[in-house]
Amino acid sequence: MKFPTLTLAKALLASSSISTVFDQTNNQLALEHVSPSSLETSFQESCPQVVPIPPQNANLAHFKTPEFRNWSLAVLQSAVQVPSESYDDLGAVGIDPRWNIFYDLENALRKSFPKVHQTLAFERINTHGLLYTWNGTDPSLKPTIFMAHQDVVPVLNDSLGLWTYPPYSAHFDGKFIWGRGTSDDKGSLVAVLEAVETLLNQGIKAPRRTIILSFGYDEEISGSRGAGHISKHLLKRYGPNSIHSIVDEGGSGVVEQQGVKLALPGVTEKGMYDALVVLKTPGGHSSLPPDHTAIGIIGELASLMESRPFSPALNTHSPIYKFLQCTAAYSQEMAEDLRQAIQKCATDEKAMDTVFKVMGRLRATKYMIQTSQAIDIVAGGLKINALPEKVELMANYRIDLQSNVDETRQKVVEDVRQIAEKYGLGLSLNKTLDDGSFEHEVLLEGSVYEPSDTLTNGYFEISDYGSYTKVAPIAPTFDSEAWDTFSGTIRHVFGTFAGPVIDPTKKHQVFDGEPKEPQNIVVSPALMTANTDTKHYWDLTDNIYRFWPYRVLDTQVSHIHTVDERILLDVHIEAVAFYYSYILNL
Ligand SMILES: *[C@@H]1O[C@H](CO)[C@@H](O)[C@H](O)[C@H]1NC(C)=O
Ligand SMILES: *[C@@H]1O[C@H](CO)[C@@H](O)[C@H](O)[C@H]1NC(C)=O
Ligand SMILES: *[C@@H]1O[C@H](CO)[C@@H](O)[C@H](O)[C@H]1NC(C)=O
Ligand SMILES: *[C@@H]1O[C@H](CO)[C@@H](O)[C@H](O)[C@H]1NC(C)=O
Ligand SMILES: [Zn+2]
Repeated sequence: MKFPTLTLAKALLASSSISTVFDQTNNQLALEHVSPSSLETSFQESCPQVVPIPPQNANLAHFKTPEFRNWSLAVLQSAVQVPSESYDDLGAVGIDPRWNIFYDLENALRKSFPKVHQTLAFERINTHGLLYTWNGTDPSLKPTIFMAHQDVVPVLNDSLGLWTYPPYSAHFDGKFIWGRGTSDDKGSLVAVLEAVETLLNQGIKAPRRTIILSFGYDEEISGSRGAGHISKHLLKRYGPNSIHSIVDEGGSGVVEQQGVKLALPGVTEKGMYDALVVLKTPGGHSSLPPDHTAIGIIGELASLMESRPFSPALNTHSPIYKFLQCTAAYSQEMAEDLRQAIQKCATDEKAMDTVFKVMGRLRATKYMIQTSQAIDIVAGGLKINALPEKVELMANYRIDLQSNVDETRQKVVEDVRQIAEKYGLGLSLNKTLDDGSFEHEVLLEGSVYEPSDTLTNGYFEISDYGSYTKVAPIAPTFDSEAWDTFSGTIRHVFGTFAGPVIDPTKKHQVFDGEPKEPQNIVVSPALMTANTDTKHYWDLTDNIYRFWPYRVLDTQVSHIHTVDERILLDVHIEAVAFYYSYILNL
C-alpha cells in the first residue's frame, strides 16, 4: 500500500487520535458513562453483529505449538530476507534487471510451501505475478480471492543506519520479527500460504469453493504490471461479478478504542485526482512589470483555493457513518452527548454539526468525511530580471466517498475561473476521459500567447495530471451474506484465539499472553484513505475487504513504510489462523 497506511488506526493512536478528540469533547459535552446493559438494544441494531463462526473440523490449537511457531517464523523470515523493492523508475519487466529479484522471492516461496506448489494450479502472469488456483468441490459456489503484494517500499540508503536490525535480516528477538515487509505486505502473503499449506497438511484435498491467491509485484508503484494484469486474466476466465469476495491488505486491523474492541476492514477507498494548472503570460524586462506577474497571480490562486476547502459530508451509506454507529452503540466510555449526536445525526442537522466538529478536530479524522486538497508544487520564473512567462501549480486531491472526479475537477475550474476573470486571462481545460482520451474545452476566450505578442494578458490551462482513481464502490455490509461469513470469522478468531486486543494509546507493557475470557469483537465497516491493488478488481465483485488481520500494537503500526518495521510473531500467527478459518468457513 502506498503511504498513509492504517490512517484510521493512526488516528486512534497517541496524541493524534479520535480518542483524544473524544476526550477533548468530553470537556465540552457532559461526561456520563453508561454501562452496556443500559444501552438501548435498538441502538445496537444500527451495528448488527453476526454470531462468531468457528470453522468446522478445525484445529486452531495447532497454531500455538512450538513446531508451528518455528515453521511460521522460518517461512516469514525467508520471504522478508529477499529485498524485493519496487522503485518508481523501474523499466520494463524482462529488461530492467532490478525485477529479477522477484525470481528469488518465488523460489523462496516454493521452498517454504511445497504442498501448495504440488497441489494448486500455478500461473505466472506478466512474468512475476503469481496466481494460484485451488479448485473447489462445489462448482456452483463463486471463488474467493486472497490478494497480497510481493514488493516492498525501498529502504533508503540514508536510513539504513537507523534500523535497530538490518532491514532484510528478518531478525527475531524472541517476540518480534524485524524487517521491511514483515507487515506490509509479505506478512499477509506468507500467512495466506501458511494457511493453505496447513490445510493440505491436515489432509484437506479441496475447499468447498475455489480459492484463488493473487500476488502482484508492483503495488507500491501503482500495481498496473502485477495486479493490473492478473485482474484482466481473472476477468477473462471467470467473467464480471463472478467472484464471491476478495480480501486484500489495508484497513485498520483490530484495535480497542472507547472501550470497544473493533475490527475495521476497509470496505471502500477514497479516490484520487491531481490537477495541473499552467499560467502563461507575456515576458519582458522586469523594469516595466505589470502590477501582477504570473507568480503573483498563481499565489493569489493558491490562496483562493485554500480559502475554499471542500465541505464535510456524511450519509447513512458511508462506512464512516457505520463506524461511528458501531463505536457509539458498543462504547462504554463515550460521552453520552456525543453518543446521542452520533445516533441522531442522520436526521438532525445540529447533531450532524457536532459530529463534523468532532471529526474535524484532527486531520486524520477530518479527511474521512471530506475531500482533501494539497497544493504540492509551484514552479515558475527563470531569471531575476525577466518576467515569468510560465508558472505551474499542482494540487493533489483525495476524493471523498460522496464526491467524484468531476466534482473535484470542477472546484479547481471554478477557482481558476474566478482569478482568470479578475485579470482578463483566458482559460482552457484538458480533461482525461475514462477511455484515456483528451477533451479540450475553451472556457474563457483569451489570447494564446505568442512570444511576439505583448498586448495579451495570457491564459490559464488546467489539465488532469497523470491518471485519476475513482472512488471505489462500497462493499455491502450489514445486509450481505459475504459480510456475515467474513465478519463472523473475524469475531471467532479474534474473540477466542487471538491475544488481548488493546487500546494502543494506553501504555501496555505486555502484548502477549492469553485473554482470560472470550473477547467481544465488534466488526465495523471502515474506510481506506489510500489506494490498494484492489482498484484493478472492482469488476469481479462488490465484496472487497481491505483487512490486515492483525491486532494493532503501537509498536507495529507506526513503522510501516519507515525504519524498524516489525511484527509480533503471535500477531502474524493470528493472521494465519484467520485465513485458515475463513477458507474453511467459505
Ligand atoms: C524451535 O526452534 C528453536 C530455535 O531454533 C529450537 O531450539 C527448538 O528446539 C525448536 N522447537 C521445535 C519444537 O522444533
Ligand atoms: C479447475 O476447474 C476449472 C473449471 O472448472 C477447470 O477448467 C480446470 O482444469 C480445473 N483445474 C484443475 C487443476 O483441476
Ligand atoms: C545504495 O547503496 C548501494 C550499496 O552501497 C548502492 O549500490 C546503491 O546504488 C545505493 N543506492 C542509491 C539510491 O544511492
Ligand atoms: C491540452 O490540449 C491542447 C489541445 O489539444 C494541447 O495542445 C495541449 O498540449 C494540452 N495540454 C496538456 C497539458 O495536456
Ligand atoms: Zn502494501
